[in-house]
Amino acid sequence: MRNICVFASGTGSNFDAIYEASKLEGCPYKITLLVSDKPNCKAVEKANLFNIDTFTFQVSSYKTKREFELEILNELQSKKVELIVLAGYMRLIGSTLLHAYPKRILNIHPSLLPLYKGKDAVGQAMVDDAKESGVTVHFVDEGMDTGEIIKQQSLSIVNLHTRTEIETEIHKIEHNIYPQVIKRIMGEL
Ligand code: GRF
Repeated sequence: MRNICVFASGTGSNFDAIYEASKLEGCPYKITLLVSDKPNCKAVEKANLFNIDTFTFQVSSYKTKREFELEILNELQSKKVELIVLAGYMRLIGSTLLHAYPKRILNIHPSLLPLYKGKDAVGQAMVDDAKESGVTVHFVDEGMDTGEIIKQQSLSIVNLHTRTEIETEIHKIEHNIYPQVIKRIMGEL
């Protein structure tokens, strides 16, 4: 069994899906820690419900990113975490964690990268009147949504007229492909 850590700042529906998949027979990973920069977010509530340890912090209590990433790293090492999975973590990962986990940090993004990087990818697709959107899982590098792409799945949004409709379909894809990719990568390590 290999240990993974999920980083989340919000609702945590992907965290939930990754956790549910981990309970199935033959799953090669276990979530040993949830890290969050939003101590009161839903993802933290879920971790408490699932009995998963949490490490939460307020960015405003630190002078630099390195300071809080060193504390996170300490937690990751003490829990023998092999893979970091970002699931709605709304911050760029800094060099402290990138150097400690080379090609061992994943992110999921609600667009077909390189299209619609950054915040509100669904809103960007809507403004663009895009016919297609989708989901990308990629390795994390120092840029925003720029790392090597691991898997993409497209979604026709021609018949989806509201943000809620698009987000619902995007989430269905995410909840399916993120656990699959994590299982594959953990199996290959
Ligand atoms: C997802 O749409 C993911 O693609 C993006 O943030 C959202 C997180 O949703 N990075 P949730 O908190 O997992 O529900």
